[in-house]
Amino acid sequence: MADMQKHTYYTPRTGGETVFGVNASTLKFGAGCLDELGGDALALGLKRVGFFVDPRVRATDPGARAIESLRQAGIDTAVYDHCKVEPTNHSFMEAIDFARDGNFDGFISLGGGSVMDTAKAANLYTTHPAGFLDYVNAPIGGGVPIPGPVKPHIACPTTSGTGSEMTGAAIFDLVEQQVKTGISNKFLKPTLAVVDPSTTYSLPGGVVASTGFDVFTHAIESYTARPFTSYDRPDSPKTRPVYQGANPWSDIGAMQAIRLGGKYIVRGVRSADDHEARDALMFASALAGLAFGNAGVHIPHAMSYSVAGLNHSFVATGYEDDNPMVPHGISVVLNAPAAFRFTAPVAPERHLEVAAALGADTSGVGEDAAGALLADTLIAMMKATGIPNGLADLGYGEGDIPALVKGAQQQQRLLVVSPRPVETADLEGLYRDALRYW
Ligand SMILES: NC(=O)c1ccc[n+]([C@@H]2O[C@H](COP(=O)([O-])OP(=O)(O)OC[C@H]3O[C@@H](n4cnc5c(N)ncnc54)[C@H](O)[C@@H]3O)[C@@H](O)[C@H]2O)c1
Ligand SMILES: [Fe+2]
Repeated sequence: MADMQKHTYYTPRTGGETVFGVNASTLKFGAGCLDELGGDALALGLKRVGFFVDPRVRATDPGARAIESLRQAGIDTAVYDHCKVEPTNHSFMEAIDFARDGNFDGFISLGGGSVMDTAKAANLYTTHPAGFLDYVNAPIGGGVPIPGPVKPHIACPTTSGTGSEMTGAAIFDLVEQQVKTGISNKFLKPTLAVVDPSTTYSLPGGVVASTGFDVFTHAIESYTARPFTSYDRPDSPKTRPVYQGANPWSDIGAMQAIRLGGKYIVRGVRSADDHEARDALMFASALAGLAFGNAGVHIPHAMSYSVAGLNHSFVATGYEDDNPMVPHGISVVLNAPAAFRFTAPVAPERHLEVAAALGADTSGVGEDAAGALLADTLIAMMKATGIPNGLADLGYGEGDIPALVKGAQQQQRLLVVSPRPVETADLEGLYRDALRYW
């Protein structure tokens, strides 16, 4: 079967891609770096900034520290604390309206992916005004390329999750179409990522679990993505895709993020005082963001957008104060065991390497069992951290599969990164397989 052709990673091919790039935000990492925010803003020449945050993060100690640092540096700071957790087109529009009136020369975001993505959208639409759907990924939006650089953006993550501080993506829920989608362009990469792991010490365990699995899936999907050599060499560097497939550089960050996550996720979820674990998870998040921002993510993420877009009644542990919704990491990891069973036959060695990096014993395990072993390893970790037992725990059943599939089919940008081609019938089988795991 053609679609079961195994990939040999990085074997040159006539007409095949031979080049990969590394696009990344400048990264600053370490406890206490948030207190240097004012100095960093000055160094970028900023005088008046829009400061984006959500109400919960605003009330934390890092919220106060960041604003104090900007105040001490004499930066004129307008605070927008209405960022919505799991943003929508409506919440993006409100933030854009705020920015339009603000006359800012730069943007600062302090929060999880929800906040950082909101600041990216506000920056984009006030720098290069357009109809809201114009820049949104096709086929849902117009897929219009962003015409040029946006204003400086310093992104300060407070969750060890999305890696949005390193990526050119801004994700939102398009409420009217019941689907999550986004805008992706290298110009959206923040200018500077200020990653201070001490910001995560106030995170509830449930949020560490959900966001931690987002990190894992970014890293595993990057590591198991189709090799960059499987793409055709483009005629011009301009048309080289942002998501280039797995490459020798993304492999380094992805593999280390998998190792760190495997070692620390259960500890980080169980105790906010386990700073060694929480610091390591934050580093893993930045590494995984670097990896997937260049390699790409595939089936678990493509499937997640309808899982989150169709359900507005689930309340996850740790998110009780927010509107009912499926947190991103949960919407992704629930598809992961099913997806890796499906992709393992075309890249068995890589799936075995991932299972080993997560601590599984792979001695004597044949290539045929690679997918099952990786799935079982992930399922054990999901159980140990209180993740729901499959999509059925969110309320989905057989009857929802057609609608879930319809949403996933719109994520072609991600599905093409899969090492194994994915047809409609495959997606149906994948959602069925993801309904229940134990
Ligand atoms: N841009 C990207 O590359 C990218 C990648 C993956 C996901 N995403 C998107 O990011 C969003 C999810 O972001 P997230 O998972 O980082 O979480 P989040 O921003 O949604 O925050 C999760 C919860 O934790 C709270 N919180 C955050 N930091 C805290 C802290 N330090 N202390 C206490 N509470 C805190 C928030 O208020 C919220 O209730 C989704 O919309 C998802 O689609 C974006
Ligand atoms: Fe993600």
